[in-house]
Amino acid sequence: MKTLVLGENEIDKAAEIIKNGGLVAMPTETVYGLAANALDGKAVAKIFKAKGRPMDNPLIVHISDISQIYMLVREFPEKAKILAEKFWAGPLTIILPKSDIIPDEVSAGLDTVAVRFPSNKIAQALISKSMPLAAPSANLSGSPSPTNARHVLDDMKGRINAVIDGGECEVGVESTVITLATDIPRLLRPGGITVEQLREAIGEVVIDDAVLNPLKSGQKAASPGMKYKHYAPKAHIILLEGSDDSFIEYVNSRKANGIAALCYDEDIDRLEVPCIPIGHADDYEMQSHKLFSSLRNADEQGFLTVYAHCPKTDGMGLAVYNRIIRAAGFEVIEI
Ligand code: TXA
Ligand code: MG
Repeated sequence: MKTLVLGENEIDKAAEIIKNGGLVAMPTETVYGLAANALDGKAVAKIFKAKGRPMDNPLIVHISDISQIYMLVREFPEKAKILAEKFWAGPLTIILPKSDIIPDEVSAGLDTVAVRFPSNKIAQALISKSMPLAAPSANLSGSPSPTNARHVLDDMKGRINAVIDGGECEVGVESTVITLATDIPRLLRPGGITVEQLREAIGEVVIDDAVLNPLKSGQKAASPGMKYKHYAPKAHIILLEGSDDSFIEYVNSRKANGIAALCYDEDIDRLEVPCIPIGHADDYEMQSHKLFSSLRNADEQGFLTVYAHCPKTDGMGLAVYNRIIRAAGFEVIEI
């Protein structure tokens, strides 16, 4: 299949492809999504095939107007309304009991559906000109999510009908996922809206175990995506947990061909191995913005082992930590 590269002014063409049951990668403020008509099970099934995604991993449905949620869910409780009013359009996904209109392919057999209203204008225009869109991140299953059109083409060229080039994504990590289908709201994936912001808006929010820890054998994932290997480049990523000085010392003592450091900007001068800087230690927004392209960059440069400076877990740091620890397959060395 030939993959068209469309400009921002070719959204009508992209909408036509969607209406005909095809696949279009679109920019969002978080990462690029691989979109199909959310109400057409056959079109949605093509997403799984193109990504190599396990069929038991449900998709997020993207809307361009809050009122569209009423046809997608059975209940729209007060707390969900508060979150929608406060954080939509933006990087927050809300899980609610699904309506019958949702094909099984989208919900992967669950009784719930994940809904998100992206703030990216191109995504909004594409939804408005077609319909609600099911869209996972537009990468091959298991690789880092794409934050520009080139990343999408690297993974998906020949596998999808088109990509709309909307430049670089601002946030850089995927949306925050919260479920309101449980008694107490539960954070399933940290992202651009922090748990502190969610608690301020609706009170108690539990952080699911799988956000920071690997699933224990036999444990059921609240969010099926969390049980799969994720965000992993080909390079072997190892997270180093300890003081800033011990990070520098540990990495320098392992200086060799193929070794690199995923580090903070302020580490560069003291490190004796090639550096992939992701921003200042306390600039979580910049770290989120650069993380996935840095992981892809490590592969482009052919590094074999990359030691990562351990991020902190307050605010948006939690989102960065959650992605790096998965990219590292939970391999953490205390130094
Ligand atoms: O920012 C984002 O959310 C991006 C852009 C494209 O919108 N999308 C994205 O989709 O990251 P995806 O499929 O890569 O990640 C969705 C996550 C998966 O971990 C999936 O298991 C979980 O959300 N999820 C989706 N529906 C769910 C449901 N009904 N219950 C629990 N988890 C769900
Ligand atoms: Mg993904």
